[in-house]
Amino acid sequence: MLKVTYLGHSCFQLDDGNYKLIIDPFITGNPQAPVTAKDIDVNYIVLTHGHGDHLGDAIDIAKRCDATIITTNELANYVASKGAKAHNMYIGGGYNFPFGRIKFTIAHHGSSGPNNEYLGNPAGVVITMGGKKVYHAGDTGIFLDMKLIGEMDKIDIYMAPIGDNFTMGIDDAVKSVEFVNPELSVPMHFNTFPVIPANPEEFKKKVEAIGKKAMVFPFGHTETFD
Ligand code: NI
Ligand code: MN
Repeated sequence: MLKVTYLGHSCFQLDDGNYKLIIDPFITGNPQAPVTAKDIDVNYIVLTHGHGDHLGDAIDIAKRCDATIITTNELANYVASKGAKAHNMYIGGGYNFPFGRIKFTIAHHGSSGPNNEYLGNPAGVVITMGGKKVYHAGDTGIFLDMKLIGEMDKIDIYMAPIGDNFTMGIDDAVKSVEFVNPELSVPMHFNTFPVIPANPEEFKKKVEAIGKKAMVFPFGHTETFD
């Protein structure tokens, strides 16, 4: 069993009944966020890259909850230098945690910190938890290796950015669904800022038109996958 909650932008919380994990907790300053950062109570935090709309409240949450931040090496060192507990990983590497497995994938994007610190390469992540495989693509353009990601791990839930400008837009994201071939696709990273307008229902319709399933999570919505 895996409970998935959408907290806006690229932030999802996963809960298997024993452990709670949050991905890219950009809550403070996110007009879509249905909660405040101090409401978050998790054991682990996964970060795809260092940009403010992904790093977000991660360091504060990690310190308050004594949660471990799991991310790529340079970003892990950065959050550790700010006093957070970190587990350093890198693209292509997987590790078995008490809740399940984390494996980082490539993403075509950038990664810098609040003061333009270089924070290594951006990533996507495949999370195995509660008997499900979740692929959160992070911020990325489309790439053909998404086919390989979908072949190596049968993906149950694919979280795809659709907002264009910084990442894939809707048409590229729909094409990426073909590559990843998941059970269910969920759009993210849209409408938070004026430069990333997108209609998630258009994504859903276009995914369904290629014979695949998609679901638009309202902000704050929790879906349970058995
Ligand atoms: Ni970014
Ligand atoms: Mn972003």
